[in-house]
Amino acid sequence: MNETIKKQLSHRSIRLFSDNAVSEDVVNTLLEVANRTASSSGFQQFSIIRVTDAEIKRRISLICKQDYVNKLPEFFIFIADCYRNARIIKEQGCGDRSTYDMDRFFQAFTDACLAAQNVTTAIESLGLGAVYFGSILNDPQELINILALPEFTFPVLGVGFGHPAQDPQLKPRMDVSLKVFENQYKVFDSYLENIADYDKEMQTYYDLRDNGKHSDTFSQQIVKKFLAVNEKRSRLLNIAKKQGFNLKIE
Ligand SMILES: Cc1cc2nc3c(=O)[nH]c(=O)nc-3n(C[C@H](O)[C@H](O)[C@H](O)COP(=O)(O)O)c2cc1C
Repeated sequence: MNETIKKQLSHRSIRLFSDNAVSEDVVNTLLEVANRTASSSGFQQFSIIRVTDAEIKRRISLICKQDYVNKLPEFFIFIADCYRNARIIKEQGCGDRSTYDMDRFFQAFTDACLAAQNVTTAIESLGLGAVYFGSILNDPQELINILALPEFTFPVLGVGFGHPAQDPQLKPRMDVSLKVFENQYKVFDSYLENIADYDKEMQTYYDLRDNGKHSDTFSQQIVKKFLAVNEKRSRLLNIAKKQGFNLKIE
């Protein structure tokens, strides 16, 4: 097995970092990795905002409801970005709002996700640690205001990273057989029966994020978390529409 795959198979999120700064050289290399990521149609519809300002981090930590955002040595926010190309089109005297439909939106969203994962793989390959922040979307409008995002952009994912100051256990995963199918989707008779062993494993997993408590089973977690609807997050497309994207829902 090569070193890249070894690293990928030992992935775990890191949420506690030492005070050791990440060097500018490393940051620049990671930005080049992001820039080299495949992009849908080659349109390069993503941007990164590197958050260095403590007050901006504080405001974002309130959106995320995660205090450790304030202590992140580095914090990149990946943006689905159709604004740049909109300007390139406009500056040539063209401009049609229908260009910013859901196809563009999902292309840009996918570009941003792929760039984020490419950067994360590079971070981990350097012996650094990283954690994603989907919680930036707890209040997308507030985040858009804080980051001064223009029309035709949408925040996707944050990545915090630095030198690890913790060594968490690997978080158990459901068996591959439940997620990988040949040719056609496979529906199982009983999902609970199939994840019984995984449920047990999850229960003994020691989750540092929850102050080092043992976890609920996966099936318990899913019930708790899915029933707690976040109203703002369930209306993300309304914000995408406000950002100028044409949802074309008819
Ligand atoms: C899209 C996405 C959003 C995430 N958002 C957060 C987040 O807001 N806060 C956090 O602490 N972890 C976040 N995570 C990390 C997950 O909780 C973590 O990957 C998952 O529990 C599996 O644990 P592991 O990464 O240690 O294997 C996110 C991960 C992904 C892929």
